[in-house]
Amino acid sequence: MRAYVLDRYGGPDGARLTDVAAPVPGPSDILVNVRAAGLNPVDFKFRQGNLRVIHRPKLPFVLGNELAGEVVAVGSDVKRFRVGDRAFARVGKDRGGAFAELACVDQAYAALMPQNLDFAAAAAVPLAGLTALQALRDELRVGPGQKVLISGGAGGVGTFAIQIAKWLGAHVTTTASSRGEALVRSLGADDVIDYTSQDVSDAKDRFDAGFDLIGGKTLDQMFEIMKPNTKIVSVAALPEPQTAIKDLDGRRGLAALFWIISTGIRARARRAKVGYRFLFMHPSGAELAELGELIAQAKLKVIVDRTFPFAEIAEALAYVESGHAKGKVVITMG
Ligand SMILES: NC(=O)c1ccc[n+]([C@@H]2O[C@H](COP(=O)([O-])OP(=O)(O)OC[C@H]3O[C@@H](n4cnc5c(N)ncnc54)[C@H](OP(=O)(O)O)[C@@H]3O)[C@@H](O)[C@H]2O)c1
Repeated sequence: MRAYVLDRYGGPDGARLTDVAAPVPGPSDILVNVRAAGLNPVDFKFRQGNLRVIHRPKLPFVLGNELAGEVVAVGSDVKRFRVGDRAFARVGKDRGGAFAELACVDQAYAALMPQNLDFAAAAAVPLAGLTALQALRDELRVGPGQKVLISGGAGGVGTFAIQIAKWLGAHVTTTASSRGEALVRSLGADDVIDYTSQDVSDAKDRFDAGFDLIGGKTLDQMFEIMKPNTKIVSVAALPEPQTAIKDLDGRRGLAALFWIISTGIRARARRAKVGYRFLFMHPSGAELAELGELIAQAKLKVIVDRTFPFAEIAEALAYVESGHAKGKVVITMG
């Protein structure tokens, strides 16, 4: 089968489209005929080798973290899916494999696609949608009437995050350039800060919860405009000890390392009397089914910026790497 394979960490020339053996499903796996796969910044960060401290699979490794397609075989323990089902999933983190004609997914990570989505839109949901749901609902416990600040609202995660925060009843302020403003407003953003001409700290409100998709100076400024005893969850800045304990199976060596590298951010958070948590999202078929339900009820829209044919996956990844996608980028199989 055709697959996009990483041979060595580094630039785009370390990965190539080639033929590899089809994966064989284990007892709890479904085998999916991939019809579309979503792209995410983690794909190029992984290719660059930036995640090696957390996760270092043997190369060559088939890239790709989320997919939609038809189930063509099921393992002996699989009860929730049948051959012919249309499924979508954020695949297992140690496994990858979504940028391929066939992929194996543990049944616990997959859900049935909502009827009102095609494969390209369904493939755009799992990773970014689950990240937004887990950050806003589970970590920040956003509720009605709260003022939520989301940095980077126009990208893959942001377009889900704005809608999920609105669904949870919040008042949403987000950052976007003039290129993204119409989109974020159409998704329900109440206030927009143009990050190209304004500081985030110029926001007129003080916030009950912060969801950071940008990091760096943006995160620093977010600390300045939070109410005391609130919390910021970032998925783009630096991991801290809780990241290792809660999201990475309590790996103690990593917790110590993350404690050291997050010293500056944690000090800033303490001075602002704000909690700081870096989240690594986790795959979940059950939570993906919840997102599917919201989509089926037209409470959540999927914003696909561009689709590329599988043969142009390198161009698709370069487009994601440019950092200017509006919503999600997807590849479709022939
Ligand atoms: N930890 C986790 O589990 C996890 C999960 C998902 C994502 N992430 C991380 O979260 C980040 C966001 O992911 P994504 O998929 O949303 O990325 P993305 O789709 O590539 O984001 C692109 C968008 O960001 C906007 N943008 C760029 N710089 C900005 C700034 N300084 N302020 C405000 N907006 C800015 C761009 O708008 P303009 O073109 O208008 O500039 C563009 O629309 C990435 O770093 C990704 O790796 C982490």
